[in-house]
Amino acid sequence: MLGKNAKLFFAVSVCILIAAIVLASWGFPKIVHKQIQKNLQLQNSSAMFEKWRELPVPLTFKIYVFNVTNADDVTDGAKPILNEIGPFVYKEYRVKRILGYGDNDTIRYMLQKTFYFDQEASGSLREDEEITVINYSYMAAILTVLDIMPAAVTLVNGALTSFFSNLTDPFLRVKAKDLFFDGIFLNCVGENAALSLVCGKIRLEKPTTMRPSENNDGFYFSMFSHLNTTESGPYDMKRGIENIHELGNIVAYNNMTTMSQWGDPYCGQLNGSDSSIFPPIEGNPPKRIYTYEPEICRSLYASLVDKRDIFNISAYYYEIDEMVLASKSANPGNKCFCKKDWSSSHDGCLLMGVLNLNPCKNVPAIVSLPHFYLASEELLEYFDGGISPDKEKHRSFAYLDATTGVVLKGTQRLQFNIELRNVNAIPQLEYVKTGLFPLLWIEEGAEISEELQQELHQSHKMLSYVESLRWAILGLAVILCIASAMCVSRAGGLNPWPRNHNSVSFILRPGNTFDINKSR
Ligand SMILES: *[C@@H]1O[C@H](CO)[C@@H](O)[C@H](O)[C@H]1NC(C)=O
Ligand SMILES: *[C@@H]1O[C@H](CO)[C@@H](O)[C@H](O)[C@H]1NC(C)=O
Ligand SMILES: *[C@@H]1O[C@H](CO)[C@@H](O)[C@H](O)[C@H]1NC(C)=O
Ligand SMILES: *[C@@H]1O[C@H](CO)[C@@H](O)[C@H](O)[C@H]1NC(C)=O
Ligand SMILES: *[C@@H]1O[C@H](CO)[C@@H](O)[C@H](O)[C@H]1NC(C)=O
Ligand SMILES: *[C@@H]1O[C@H](CO)[C@@H](O)[C@H](O)[C@H]1NC(C)=O
Ligand SMILES: *[C@@H]1O[C@H](CO)[C@@H](O)[C@H](O)[C@H]1NC(C)=O
Ligand SMILES: *[C@@H]1O[C@H](CO)[C@@H](O)[C@H](O)[C@H]1NC(C)=O
Ligand SMILES: *[C@@H]1O[C@H](CO)[C@@H](O)[C@H](O)[C@H]1NC(C)=O
Repeated sequence: MLGKNAKLFFAVSVCILIAAIVLASWGFPKIVHKQIQKNLQLQNSSAMFEKWRELPVPLTFKIYVFNVTNADDVTDGAKPILNEIGPFVYKEYRVKRILGYGDNDTIRYMLQKTFYFDQEASGSLREDEEITVINYSYMAAILTVLDIMPAAVTLVNGALTSFFSNLTDPFLRVKAKDLFFDGIFLNCVGENAALSLVCGKIRLEKPTTMRPSENNDGFYFSMFSHLNTTESGPYDMKRGIENIHELGNIVAYNNMTTMSQWGDPYCGQLNGSDSSIFPPIEGNPPKRIYTYEPEICRSLYASLVDKRDIFNISAYYYEIDEMVLASKSANPGNKCFCKKDWSSSHDGCLLMGVLNLNPCKNVPAIVSLPHFYLASEELLEYFDGGISPDKEKHRSFAYLDATTGVVLKGTQRLQFNIELRNVNAIPQLEYVKTGLFPLLWIEEGAEISEELQQELHQSHKMLSYVESLRWAILGLAVILCIASAMCVSRAGGLNPWPRNHNSVSFILRPGNTFDINKSR
């Protein structure tokens, strides 16, 4: 009687053990995964949704500008000596206006950024600081004309003299805030055929940096005013309900699923997210994370470096590497970013570390990482001082939470440059040395609030409890099993253990033991 009960007890405990194993190896991870997915996916009931829609803390938008300290000498042919001034710090608020849900598990939204100057964070720097920088819009106009009709360049320069008042050299002396946001007035009124040509081209192409004046007699040029309060989009983003591993991927921008600007299906791919959200990692980090940046019409990526702690949270650390903006020879995948419209003396492919923005923005601008970090050393030889690439200051990086993939801290940095070109026919450019001239660089940084850090800490604690619970249940089941086995062996003392030690069927149907013994 006792033996029978013991056997039943053993049978039940084995069933429990099997259940515990299934639960521990499959059930618990599944439940955890479901919970994470529920919190992350883009629908208005999920925990992250509101934080994704409207960033609870503003990003910091920093601008560093290159003041030219020897402008007169550069005009006479000397190497430029630059002096970096900054950061001018702005708070960048990001709000998404949800337009609705689309087919194929997508959400459609418009993105609005708003910038406010942060005097406290900028320290002694004021927005009306007087600076001397490369005359970006002037060089852009000259290079454009040289590109489309080289013969007309002297004629156009005459027009530019009335377009840009008091044109003496290729440099611009302005207040910082006029260059960044308020705008520098460019006159379009005058009895001059070439002037109307220049203005006509701008009206036609509507470069984002040119804002028409109220009474239409000219334009205001500024680097970032088109980003302030103007909505961009619509973006179509994967919601991660059907497939959580696609969460955050942008599948279309402006109703387009690829970018036509590069004239190539590979370079035109929209890869990655708007850097606000990534799929959960759950200990299985992707080698690269992609972000799509409409301002430069391309996806950039950061590569996995290692695992490190930040804010006391375990995270995967990603950093931009030199392959991203590599030249064609170093990274053949980049060859479709080569466009022949920057400089006639090139095959269109630029040096290591720079990207031609002309196809994207219709301005002959070149982007790079700050101070030509990870770019060809050749670019540095153009300067007599003020340019010194430094990994710590100039890299782009991101820390993603090791479980949820939430961005704990991230920084993206980009520099805007334009070519200063020697043009014999133009007095202002007659003696200058040709080279790639930096204007300014920006840093967009974000980190999660203390509050969200706490929330993550809490949920990680929960996860570790769940993890302990999982092992505890498994452990208990094993103990139970061993205990019941001992009961069985004690109750049925005549049935010796050793003979049957690997036979589960023996427990369920004692009769089998004889079969086994016979077959031995
Ligand atoms: C979520 O959206 C649905 C419709 O899409 C709406 O009926 C519901 O009230 C929303 N819930 C919240 C919490 O906003
Ligand atoms: C920038 O350089 C010019 C000289 O080229 C100088 O007059 C000006 O004070 C500098 N601006 C700042 C903010 O240092
Ligand atoms: C949804 O996906 C299918 C198949 O991938 C595709 O044919 C269709 O065009 C997509 N719809 C939208 C609106 O993108
Ligand atoms: C951006 O636009 C807002 C609203 O028009 C304005 O208040 C703010 O000053 C602008 N920011 C900058 C840096 O000009
Ligand atoms: C142009 O130069 C003249 C004289 O040199 C000066 O009076 C005028 O203020 C200048 N205009 C601008 C816009 O700098
Ligand atoms: C540079 O261009 C601006 C317009 O962007 C013009 O007003 C200015 O006079 C030019 N500066 C110089 C020093 O020629
Ligand atoms: C994008 O598509 C939507 C609806 O499909 C349409 O209302 C909108 O005008 C389109 N936008 C552009 C820029 O083509
Ligand atoms: C886009 O992503 C795919 C895979 O994720 C990758 O193979 C491809 O190189 C990326 N394209 C670009 C232009 O970066
Ligand atoms: C980080 O975590 C450890 C252990 O979890 C704890 O002892 C320590 O106080 C924490 N540090 C901070 C700054 O929160």
